[in-house]
Amino acid sequence: MRRPIRTFAVAIFSAMCVPTIALTESAPPDASSASAQPDYHPSMGDLMTMAIQPRHIKLYYAGDRQNWSYARYELGELRNAFVRITRTIPQYHALDTANITSAVTDAPFDALAGAIEARDPKQFTVAYARLTQACNACHQSLNHADVVIKVPAADEFPDQQFRPAKPH
Ligand code: HEC
Repeated sequence: MRRPIRTFAVAIFSAMCVPTIALTESAPPDASSASAQPDYHPSMGDLMTMAIQPRHIKLYYAGDRQNWSYARYELGELRNAFVRITRTIPQYHALDTANITSAVTDAPFDALAGAIEARDPKQFTVAYARLTQACNACHQSLNHADVVIKVPAADEFPDQQFRPAKPH
């Protein structure tokens, strides 16, 4: 009985190899495109959905669970994500993205940083609400008032723990 199994395994292995070989052959190396990155241009809506929204939510859970070291990390992630967006989309409908972002988010980000350093849940809640208002202020001023952000209610990342892993 061993032999047929081995034959079967070899057949599967060969079948797996064929498409790989075919792909390699149909895409001859080309000096100009070999090192080029895929040409993907995410929109503002893509970047908001991918880079901003999940971090805004996670930051809330971090503060809510008083997981201050993770909150500090996630605040940095969120701030840097906005910086990268201003580089990817420097102008939105002829407006300077960096200027608008900094005008609405600098103060709430600083307030959040202060709350996290002070490890103060009440201060965090107030600062988080201010950040959420800043999200909506930008949406309203850029004609996207229908994108309404709120303080999250329920856990939306069921595979991630937001409580501190160990007391600190
Ligand atoms: C610099 C201004 C600006 C700031 C600040 C901003 N947004 Fe946005 N956001 C936009 C714009 C503009 C759109 C619409 C993009 C489009 O579809 O072209 C958008 C769209 C979105 C969307 C997409 C909605 C959907 O249903 O697809 C989400 C989610 C979002 N923003 C979340 C946030 C959150 C959360 C914050 C705050 C932490 C925030 N945004 C702060 C400008 C901003």
